[in-house]
Order: sequence, then structure tokens, then C-alpha cells
Amino acid sequence: MEKKYLIIGNWKMYKAPSQAVDLASEILKAGCPENAALVVCPPFTHLWGVAAVLKNSAIALGAQNMYPAAEGAFTGEISPAMLRDLGASYVIIGHSERRSIFRESNELIHQKVKAAQDFQLTPILCVGETLVERESGQHREVVEEQISSALEGISDTHLIIAYEPVWAIGTGRTATPELAQEMHAFIRDLLKKRFREEGLGVHILYGGSVKPGNAAELFAQPDITGGLIGGASIVAEDFMAIARAAEVA
Ligand code: 13P
Repeated sequence: MEKKYLIIGNWKMYKAPSQAVDLASEILKAGCPENAALVVCPPFTHLWGVAAVLKNSAIALGAQNMYPAAEGAFTGEISPAMLRDLGASYVIIGHSERRSIFRESNELIHQKVKAAQDFQLTPILCVGETLVERESGQHREVVEEQISSALEGISDTHLIIAYEPVWAIGTGRTATPELAQEMHAFIRDLLKKRFREEGLGVHILYGGSVKPGNAAELFAQPDITGGLIGGASIVAEDFMAIARAAEVA
């Protein structure tokens, strides 16, 4: 069976709302390769405008975070129900920037994964070790703990894992295809143990300095089924070049 890739753009805190509409239009115009599905995750304030551009298209919409409750007195937060109403079908959970800058714990991330699924949003669970953890040989242990705590008691396989080694995010230092594959195979085994056969259908994306020049060799690895793209996703040309890399991988 041909591999179907999933390419997700994490726009982080970039672009003004009006620029985001333009970026979404450019991506839409470029057209998507047959064996890839695209998702874009703009900032909350841009979702409405981008949703209008992507309406009735094959490109799906995601958010970058959410609070794990339907509604309530949570000043400054956004609920999964609000995201659904805006047309989002995905949400990034536990990105390393949220874990480190906003001190998100494995427990909070677990609650968010659960709440996302309860509201029919597909969580994109981000995991990955820091440089210190990699250099001290703890990378497998760290990733296993992040996955087992986030997925505790969860039996629904409507979820995506993004392996993003922290030392590769925004640094220009990509994991080698071999190193990434080794971690993806490890994650695939964890998913098989947890979900049996159904674990085989869960996307495991690689993230961390994916660029047009290195995407194809990463996507060619057997357990890498797509990418979570940061910097290169806010340049339409680069994002689409990465999507097209799925065709040759
Ligand atoms: P970069 O592609 O900019 O390294 O960011 C990766 C990332 O954090 C995606 O979520």
C-alpha cells in the first residue's frame, strides 16, 4: 500500500491575521500532491480568516493549543468547542515550547489529549528529548514517559504523534534520517504495544528543521509518515516543496 503522508504547518506566533489569509490562499493555489494531506495551524486569532479561505478545500485546519474544558472562567484560554466551531479538526498538544516556556506538565498534556478527543479534535501530541537528555542517553526513556503519561487510559487511536527532538527545533540542526527513523521505530513499537494492530494506523511525524532540501530523505524512512513543519511552513513555496517531497520519498 502506498504511504499517505501528513504534512502539518505549525505557524507558531508568526504573521498578522491578514498575512495569514494570504499565506493560506497561496498554499491552496499551489495544489497538493496525491499522496499527501495538508494541515495548517495558525495562531488562534487567525483561525477565522484562514478557515474562510480553506472552506470546502482538502486542506484542514488545526490550532496550536487549547484549554481542556468546554467553557468556563479561564481568562485568556480557548476551548476545544470553540476550535470546533471555527472549523478546526486538529490541535497541537504538548509542543516543546509549551512544555518549556509555559511549564506544561505531562499531566496537563494528558488532560488536553483527552479533552481534544472528547470534542472530536485530533490531537497532535508532540514528544521529544532535550540535548542534555540525548547526550546522557535518556532519550528513549523521556519519550516513552511523555507518551505513556499523555495516553494513559486512552483507547481511541484518533491521534497523531510528532517526534520533535528539542535540539532540532528552530536550530537548523535536523536529526539524521537514521537517528529519526530509530526513534520513530521505537515510538511505533510503543503504539503497537498500547493499541495492537490499530497502532499501525497512527501517524508518526518528524519535526525539527525540516526544509525542502532534507524532507525527501526523512520521508523515505519506513516509520516516518510526514512532518510537523515550523519555520519553513510560513513560506508557501517552502511548505509546498516539502509536501512535494512526499511524492519522491
Ligand atoms: P522548525 O521547523 O522551525 O525547526 O520548528 C519545528 C517545530 O517546532 C514544529 O512544531
